[in-house]
Amino acid sequence: MLNIVVCVSGGGTNLQAIIDGVKEGKIRNTKIVGVISNNVGAYALQRAEDAGIPAFCISPKNFESREEFNEAFLKQLKELNPGLIVLAGFLVILPEKMIEVYRDRIINIHPSLIPSFCGTGYYGLKVHEAALTRGVKVTGATVHYVDEGTDTGRIIMQKAVDVLEGDTPEVLQRRVMEQAEWIILPKAIDKIATASE
Ligand code: GAR
Repeated sequence: MLNIVVCVSGGGTNLQAIIDGVKEGKIRNTKIVGVISNNVGAYALQRAEDAGIPAFCISPKNFESREEFNEAFLKQLKELNPGLIVLAGFLVILPEKMIEVYRDRIINIHPSLIPSFCGTGYYGLKVHEAALTRGVKVTGATVHYVDEGTDTGRIIMQKAVDVLEGDTPEVLQRRVMEQAEWIILPKAIDKIATASE
């Protein structure tokens, strides 16, 4: 059984796709042992509670320094002892120590076809704004392993999504979620969870 911890910062629709995927058997051999948010107002925390999953908020605002926050975050992770950490809309720069400790056991969902529209400053709606400004006709989402860089780790899965005439960043974001993110994130977790069976 693969024990996963999901890290979130916002609405948590990707978390919901994981919760549903586990419930429906689309993600096999997997248990969500905890959800951690850096943001006390994240609706994702509510989704976790509704699903009966232990939910924790560790906010940098409650610590004197970044180091103290990093330590608290790592401590919580260690207690949950995950086999895989899933970053599902988690908008925090990870402590380097965390990447060292959990190398090849952290994955992230990014809302573009990496290497387009990724790296520092590209997150959430900004990614879709940039895609529309550039005028690409196809965008999508990527699941990748996390290394020391920003969105530079090994790619696990990608899915393309059409950009349509008249798209706004919000409309495009929703389409990328529905047609790509909520599909490939559960699939990637299932792939990892069943690889060693
Ligand atoms: C998702 O679109 C995810 O791909 C993106 O944040 C959103 C979170 O939505 N992540 C990034 O931009 C990471 N660079 P959610 O909270 O509803 O899952």
